Amino acid sequence: MTAIKSINGRRVWDSRGNPTVEVDVVLENGVRGRAIAPAGASRGTREAIDMRDGGAKLRGMDVSRALANIAKLNATLGGMDATDQEAADSAILALDGSALKENLGGNATVATSLAILHAAAADAGVPLWRHVADHYGTEPSLPLPEIQIFGGGAHAGRRVDVQDFMIMVPGANSFDEVMEITNEVYFAAGDIMKSRGKLAGVADEGGWWPMFDSNEEALETLVQAIEKAGEKPGERVVISLDIAASEFGKNGEYRLALEDRVLDSSALIDMLGGWLKSYPIASIEDPLGEDDTEGMQEFTRRFGQKVQIIGDDYLVTNARLVKDAVAANACNAVLIKVNQAGTVSESIETFKAARKAGWGAIVSARSGETEDVSISHLATGLGGGQLKVGSFTRSERMVKWNECLRIQDELGTGAFVSGAPLANTWWARQ
Ligand code: PGA
Ligand code: ZN
Repeated sequence: MTAIKSINGRRVWDSRGNPTVEVDVVLENGVRGRAIAPAGASRGTREAIDMRDGGAKLRGMDVSRALANIAKLNATLGGMDATDQEAADSAILALDGSALKENLGGNATVATSLAILHAAAADAGVPLWRHVADHYGTEPSLPLPEIQIFGGGAHAGRRVDVQDFMIMVPGANSFDEVMEITNEVYFAAGDIMKSRGKLAGVADEGGWWPMFDSNEEALETLVQAIEKAGEKPGERVVISLDIAASEFGKNGEYRLALEDRVLDSSALIDMLGGWLKSYPIASIEDPLGEDDTEGMQEFTRRFGQKVQIIGDDYLVTNARLVKDAVAANACNAVLIKVNQAGTVSESIETFKAARKAGWGAIVSARSGETEDVSISHLATGLGGGQLKVGSFTRSERMVKWNECLRIQDELGTGAFVSGAPLANTWWARQ
């Protein structure tokens, strides 16, 4: 047992220039753990509250209320054993007393919970990924990345409806090789867009900000970029999409801004099904809205044997929602965002519920990020298989990929999961 001596918060700034919460946890023996809360832009309605001050100052985004709650956390958690993550997180839940962390703020609780995890690792004298594997009894491995090439939706002025156009490289032999191939595809895509006058800049997560006239044009361009990079689409490199359908649809009615069309659930499913036929897509996230369980069931019934279907806004890193979705056969994978749950323990519980059902689990960043690299360690330590961070530029993204490369030096290149997470998709069966 090593007791927590103090918990202190400070205001720092995220990749969008917004204020966010950083927490330092210091133990009685002087060891320290630190973490920073990320922030989403396309947030699920059932995720933990990101507590902001509101009002005119800093566009309402200041975090002084959340920071004030760190003092309450300090008073409650002081003296507790930092290596007992479960007890610490239970105390956080009890102090907050609400399902969505409405009283303390999910930003205050997630930074505190993660900082305790970091402190426990430092106390044990091991890297965070190793502490995670030891604590949760998991087998560490380097994850298969999902990397954004174009941004869209809420992250790029809604020019295209789909939020993330990404690639995965399940055919790579090492994490390092994934980075190399991604570099080639990313710049090939940029060159193609520039030459056609389709490049507007860089989106929130560092992917290209496109000026495409349709979602299909984005998919076509991505296929061409993979080819220009010297790869055969669908072989070593596949496409992954985050539709983030809750951003453009409610009550089974989906509004495609770009094409000025309204689709019902089944028309959206047909459209996406058409894309799955025409393009080498192996993974798709939030294909229907967070309120559209029937649509999600229908989509999973039709395509669940073919592609990975991830619930993000739909499942908000909530173990109960995952268990319900497993029973309902809606989705076959879950995105794990620690700040959607609000504590490490709840996130791990969700992760374990998914894995127990044979589901995939993808540890993920938010669109508002920082230099915090906790998720690289969580993905590796849990051996969860997949990591989604955003694009292949900007340091709040690259810091996560680079951290995996450092872990690769410790774990060895052979510890890369390669295509294993896509074992239940067409990619593995071809
Ligand atoms: P967000 O989006 O962080 O803006 O919520 C990321 C995602 O939808 O995966
Ligand atoms: Zn998403």
